[in-house]
Amino acid sequence: TDGRCPVPHAAPVPHDGPAPHRLDPDDQHAVNDRLRARGAAVPVLLPGDVPAYAVTRHEELKDFLTHPDVAKNACHFAALQSGELPPGWPMLTFATVRGMTTADGDDHKRLRSLVTRAFTPRRMEALRPVVHELTGTLLDRLGEAAAADPDGVADLRRHFALPLPMSVISQLLGVDAVYQDRLHELSNEIVSTATAPERVPEANREMVAILGQVAAARMKDPGDDLTSALIATRAEDGDRLSEEELIGTLMLTIIAGHETTLNLITNAVRALCNHRDQLELVRSGSATWDDVVEETLRYDSPVSYFPFRYPTRDLPVGDAVIPRGAPVLVSYTSAGRDERAYGPDADRFVVTRAARHLSFGHGAHFCLGAPLARMEAVIALEGLFTRFPGLDLAVADDQLVPHRSFVGNSPQKLPVTLG
Ligand code: HEM
Repeated sequence: TDGRCPVPHAAPVPHDGPAPHRLDPDDQHAVNDRLRARGAAVPVLLPGDVPAYAVTRHEELKDFLTHPDVAKNACHFAALQSGELPPGWPMLTFATVRGMTTADGDDHKRLRSLVTRAFTPRRMEALRPVVHELTGTLLDRLGEAAAADPDGVADLRRHFALPLPMSVISQLLGVDAVYQDRLHELSNEIVSTATAPERVPEANREMVAILGQVAAARMKDPGDDLTSALIATRAEDGDRLSEEELIGTLMLTIIAGHETTLNLITNAVRALCNHRDQLELVRSGSATWDDVVEETLRYDSPVSYFPFRYPTRDLPVGDAVIPRGAPVLVSYTSAGRDERAYGPDADRFVVTRAARHLSFGHGAHFCLGAPLARMEAVIALEGLFTRFPGLDLAVADDQLVPHRSFVGNSPQKLPVTLG
């Protein structure tokens, strides 16, 4: 699409064929296996019984992500435009936040280019020593947390996998440390659409308010950070970036910049603990930490169902036809386990597989933070297993409780002993 919106659509035709699957964020992989077997695009019901589609298979997903008749701007969302969505619908934030994930064509290019400047290879390299130092400090804290526990157990997610990307993205954006914990809690509520959906609109409001304060602080006292750069762009050319776009862009970058990397580090540690032979391959030099990161992205994608895309005409995907204006979730976690793409052992964690994955997206919306996420995860994992070679899960894998989210894929906690 060229980024322009048509007049609002009529409501999409209702699903025909088999009953839609009511999406439940529990037990992602088992549900995904069933959905993938059903088709490349399957009708699903979202919270509030909102009909949607999930694109589940690798090849069809790849085509869908670059299809010219698929848009991201919610002006194409039929149920939203016709006023049929339940009031306060918890997933509305994803559809309506004003930023590059909800923009098409030139509008998307404009919003994306402003942020791209902050992610140059030079800036990424400059962050490397910062990530190393933070990793060292957080490993000390992880050790202290385990030492303070009578059973020597610490939650790796809370004490290590979370604060690392949160601190890095906050530094990049110029967010003061005082706001970081609250911003994570709020972002977690927005992403946890299944736990307490009624909290989402309020979490959204509070996040906008805090980011308004962050922007005001940088306006008074500009620094060498992305927020200051975005504000400067605004000042130079007022109509290029509205207040709403500034706040929306900050919100998007904070959420995307830490929830995902947090899941990646958590899922990689989990997979390595459950596959010690694969860890040995890295230790003996037969595989690299980069291999571990890429295979984790495929095997247990940190982003599960990404909302939303809307076909701008009735669009065949596999055997299904997705009606114009229907909200579509792209299922990265499912695509990573697609037997058609990865063979009969798609559900095995094999670090030497060197398979390509879609877990950073594909096409115009390809993840802007991929180089940063990869760098953080490699430094974190190498640091962790070097400092604590005997690190292991403190509970059986089937005791890990999945995060109640449609968007994030990872356990809520990762209790470990450090050996
Ligand atoms: C977009 C995954 C880390 C910023 C995306 C998309 C995916 C993704 C799948 C495409 C969404 C879609 O349109 O379907 C991940 C994963 C990460 C990660 C798995 C870590 C393991 C980061 C980081 C940042 C970031 C660290 C920022 C510092 C963004 C932004 C977009 C995006 C701004 C929107 C791009 C656009 O719409 O043009 N990411 N991401 N991501 N990501 Fe990431």
